[in-house]
Amino acid sequence: MSSQLEKVKELIDLRTEARLGGGEKAIEKQHERGKYTARERIAQLLDEGSFEELDMFVRHRCTNFGQEKKSFLGDGVVTGYGTIDGRLVYVFAQDFTVFGGSLSETMALKICKVMDMAMKMGAPVIGLNDSGGARIQEGINALAGYAEIFQRNIMASGVIPQISAILGPCAGGAVYSPALTDFTIMAKGISYMFLTGPKVVKTVTGEDVTQEALGGAEVHSQKSGVCHFAAEDGEDALKIIRKLFTFIPQNNLEEPPLVPCTDPIDRLEDSLNDIIPDSPTRPYDMYEVIGAIIDNGEFLEVQRDFAKNLIVGFARFNGQAVGIVANQPKYLAGVLDSNASRKGARFVRFCDAFNIPLVTLVDVPGFLPGTGQEYNGVILHGAKLLYAYGEATVPKVTVTLRKSYGGSHIVMSCKQLRGDMNYAWPTAEIAVMGGAGAVEVLYAKEAKASDNPAKVLADREAEYNKLFCNPYNAARYGYIDDVIEPRNTRFRIIRALQQLATKKVVNPAKKHGNIPL
Ligand code: HXC
Repeated sequence: MSSQLEKVKELIDLRTEARLGGGEKAIEKQHERGKYTARERIAQLLDEGSFEELDMFVRHRCTNFGQEKKSFLGDGVVTGYGTIDGRLVYVFAQDFTVFGGSLSETMALKICKVMDMAMKMGAPVIGLNDSGGARIQEGINALAGYAEIFQRNIMASGVIPQISAILGPCAGGAVYSPALTDFTIMAKGISYMFLTGPKVVKTVTGEDVTQEALGGAEVHSQKSGVCHFAAEDGEDALKIIRKLFTFIPQNNLEEPPLVPCTDPIDRLEDSLNDIIPDSPTRPYDMYEVIGAIIDNGEFLEVQRDFAKNLIVGFARFNGQAVGIVANQPKYLAGVLDSNASRKGARFVRFCDAFNIPLVTLVDVPGFLPGTGQEYNGVILHGAKLLYAYGEATVPKVTVTLRKSYGGSHIVMSCKQLRGDMNYAWPTAEIAVMGGAGAVEVLYAKEAKASDNPAKVLADREAEYNKLFCNPYNAARYGYIDDVIEPRNTRFRIIRALQQLATKKVVNPAKKHGNIPL
């Protein structure tokens, strides 16, 4: 064998070794845990054969605790680039078979390298997390590595989309990288995120809790809102990422991909002319409205199980991606509360950062009253949503279906928050408050002094409703651009979006605003 052939063989052998990560036994153990390896995950995520791996020959440099005798090619993370539907993305996948995917100084360097490349090329970065946290043997160098990654997350925020999948443990300060990214996907049963694990919780608070109950996919998708998508398993998590990518652009200077539309743009949806119940307190399902007006009923909902009173997610109109924000009358009567407000605000800001127009469907009776909300800072959370809408410069189309009262009317993309096209159905009630509440304030004394208080209140309520609980009062002042037939909503939104395609609005120059966090 020539010396060149020998060198080529050595390269091939090294590559084979690197591809085994922590070795065959560790891979077996990973499979036994119900998890795929880092390379298997990358293969599932990216277009077939598109992955180009970088830094396969990196080894850690630690000599504490005899670490110099134990090292693996690639050192605990697989990094590189590839494509999703032909579009460039950068990826890092923590390899649990090597020191439990724990983060070393060199692992952080590998991750930072692909993040820097993603920024240079203007392409999204996807992190697949499966790690025991900082590599304990490396001490402060591992911490410094985390901080380097966080700093890059912060600089990339709003410039390139950043997506995190949690496919195993993600604990301690390690949770902050996913938390700084745009979307976090967790896989049920195998992933968990928490700042302090069950043992520390027990020591500090005495509370007995399992990993799953402390930070599993269900907890973070239903209670905390940390997780945007709870996938059925690891493979499903990666499918969700691929789907998400069909709606979002490569970076903040590009538009989302335009998809050929097979759904007629002038499709009339007769059912919408009869969807609003006669009684104002009876709910209907906002999902039916969304499904009826968007292209082919295809809706990718974000945070589906968190703050269900507000629906947010991606859809298309005539092939153009939009972000939908809609009150859900079927849950808590569609009221806005702290969680719904922060959920909506974050979504609106993502869409605005990445040139995705906003379509807002309004049926909101107000903000949820009570000490629970006030003590929880609903003032600040509501202000977040208000701020996000008011700050957004993307095309904004609002359709008011039924209730739109008081502060919640303003917050839900009203005209004065620079709503571009504000439509209302004939069933819309745009007013300071509902009729029953209003007459209680205005006419309680008059009713009390009369022979028939109930009649006085009912008459006054009818008078109030006639005057205010309709769309025409707002339309009279131009706060509503048109009152539209519900069945024609799809077409009117598409027309509005076409018209707004060249919209240009620039906010005043500043270092950054001071959103009420
Ligand atoms: C070094 C680690 C490690 C770590 C796991 N391993 N975590 N090595 N540093 N942080 C190693 C294990 O020693 C083991 O090595 C292999 O990875 C697999 O781990 P197992 O324990 O066998 O796996 P499993 O039973 O599935 O348990 C997984 C785990 C557990 C729950 C993650 O390993 C664990 O509790 N690890 C420690 C987690 C932790 O406390 N991290 C906090 C570090 S401080 P062998 O050789 O036996 O296969 C931190 C601060 C970050 O993260 C701050 C950032 C700002």
